[in-house]
Amino acid sequence: MTWIDVAAVESLAPGKCRTVEVQGRRFTLLNVGGEFHALGDRCPHRGVPLGAGYLDGTKLYCPLHGWEFDARTGACASRPDQPVDSYPVSVENGRVRVLA
Ligand code: FES
Repeated sequence: MTWIDVAAVESLAPGKCRTVEVQGRRFTLLNVGGEFHALGDRCPHRGVPLGAGYLDGTKLYCPLHGWEFDARTGACASRPDQPVDSYPVSVENGRVRVLA
């Protein structure tokens, strides 16, 4: 695993999420009240990008059928047997990095 620089801090406002693609890897980057988190971007249901989903507090909803994920852990409340990966995140010098 290595730290991957994925985005500028100011590119993602609190309460927002988006897909970032770096070095052939895709992540859902989330800003939960100023704290950044990173999840696998592929919904385990039908594979759509979770970064296009809707973030409500710590809950991330898939844009297609609304499965609910914990933005901090990747746990899936809709289907507990179908979590997404969660990655460590660090913020340094205005940049967000993901360990993956
Ligand atoms: S594709 Fe995500 S809930 Fe169906």
